Amino acid sequence: MKFHLQTWGCQMNDHDGERLSGLLIKEGFTPADSAEEADLVLLNTCSIREKAVHKVYSELGRLRQEKNRRDLIIGVTGCLAQQEQAALFKRAPQIDFVLGTMAIKQLPRLVEEARAGKKRVIDTGEYPDNHLFPPEVARRRSTAKALVTIIEGCNHACTYCIVPTTRGVERNRPWQDILAEVRGLVDQGYHEVELLGQNVNSFHGGCSFAELLERVSEVEGLEWLRFTTSHPMNFTRELAEVLVSNPKIAPFLHLPVQSGSNQVLRRMLREYTVEDYLERLGYLGDGRARIALSTDFIVGFPGETDADFDATLALLETVRYDSSFSFIYSPRPGTAALRLKDDIPSSVKTERLQRLQKRQSELAKASNLRALGTTVKARVESPGPTEAGYWMARTGDWKVVHLHVGLGRSLPFGELVDVTITEAGPHFLGAEIA
Ligand code: 5AD
Ligand code: SF4
Repeated sequence: MKFHLQTWGCQMNDHDGERLSGLLIKEGFTPADSAEEADLVLLNTCSIREKAVHKVYSELGRLRQEKNRRDLIIGVTGCLAQQEQAALFKRAPQIDFVLGTMAIKQLPRLVEEARAGKKRVIDTGEYPDNHLFPPEVARRRSTAKALVTIIEGCNHACTYCIVPTTRGVERNRPWQDILAEVRGLVDQGYHEVELLGQNVNSFHGGCSFAELLERVSEVEGLEWLRFTTSHPMNFTRELAEVLVSNPKIAPFLHLPVQSGSNQVLRRMLREYTVEDYLERLGYLGDGRARIALSTDFIVGFPGETDADFDATLALLETVRYDSSFSFIYSPRPGTAALRLKDDIPSSVKTERLQRLQKRQSELAKASNLRALGTTVKARVESPGPTEAGYWMARTGDWKVVHLHVGLGRSLPFGELVDVTITEAGPHFLGAEIA
C-alpha cells in the first residue's frame, strides 16, 4: 500500500505531516510522490484564510475524478478537518475519513476502518496527550533544519483568527522531553532546530520559554536554535535577554504586530497597543541591531480607515522590519470578527496590500544592502533554485542566499559554510564561497 501526503499551511502543520507520515510508515505503508501512484491520499489542510481552503477543495475535486477511475482512500486532516468536522462529508462525499488536529495518533485506526469499507469515518476528539507524540515515529523530510513542536494550541482570542478553534487551548510538552528529542536529533546529524508553537513563547512546560531556550542551546553539537511564532504579549525581558546574549540562538525574531493602529488592534483583541509593542521590541536593547526582525500584517480589517492604514505604514518606518508577511483580512467561520461589518471595498484592500508590500520590499532591500561585502555563515539547503551552478543557503538571520559555486561543484547538505555577500535584492542575497 502506498500513501501520498499533501500538506498546506504553517511549519506546525508541516511537522504534523511528518508525524502522520511516520505513523503510516509504521503501519507498513510506503510513501508515493504523487496522488496518482497512491492507494491512500491524506490532505493535511490549513484554514487560516479562505484561499487556503479553496486550494483544499480544488484538490479534493481532482481526487474525486481519480477515485472514479479506481480504488482510492481519501483522508482529510489538519485545520480544515477540525473546523468543518462531519460537514466535510456533505461538501465532498469522496472523503473516506476525517481526522482532527488533536487526534492525530488515531490515524492508523481510521485508515483501518476506511479500508474495511466503513463509510464516513471520523475522529475530531481532543485527546489530552496529542502533544506527547513519540518523537522517533516522525518521518522528517530531509531538510537542513529539524522542526520540534513544544506547545500546541493558543489561549489568545484574536477576533480574526481560526486557530484557537482548530488547535484548541495550549498544551505544553515537558521540557525534559523536548531536550531529549533535540539531543536525539543532533545525534542523527541535525545542527539546527526550530522550536514550534502556535504561540511558542507562552511555553510553560516546567520552565519558562527563555529557560527552555538556554537549556536546549546547551546541547552539544547544536549550532543554531530558532523558534516561531511569538505573541508580543508573551515576549518577556528575560526572553529578549536570552535572544541577544546566547550565540546559539539564531539572530532572528518574528513578532507579528498585525496593525499599526491602536483602534484596529483593539478590535482585533491583540491585547497590546502600538506603544506596548514598541516597548517590547525595546527589550532587545543594543542587541537589536544584530537581530533581524520580521512580522505579519493584516490589511483591510473591518473598519480600517485610511488613517488606520497610514498608522501601519508609519510603524513600518519606525521599526524598519527586515521582512514581513502581509495578508488581506479573510473572514473566518465562527470568529468574533464576523460580527464586525467587513466594510472595506476589495479594491481598497488590494491597494493597501500593494502599498505595504512595495514599501516592505524597499526596506528589505535596504536591510540586505547592509550585508553587502560582509562574510557570514550560511547553512547549505539545496542545489538551485533557478540556475545550474547555484546553491541555496540560509544565514542565521534567515536570509535566503543564492550561492554561486560554479557548474559541477557540490556543497555539503546541511553544513555551515562561510560566504561573502556580493549582491543584494529585496528577497535574496547573492554570494560566493569565502
Ligand atoms: N485573515 C487574514 N490573515 C490572517 N492571519 C490570521 N488570520 C487571518 C485572517 N482571518 C494572518 C496573521 C497571522 C498569520 C499567520 O496569518 O497575520 O499572524
Ligand atoms: Fe493553517 Fe493556522 Fe492551522 Fe497552521 S495553525 S495549518 S497556519 S490554520
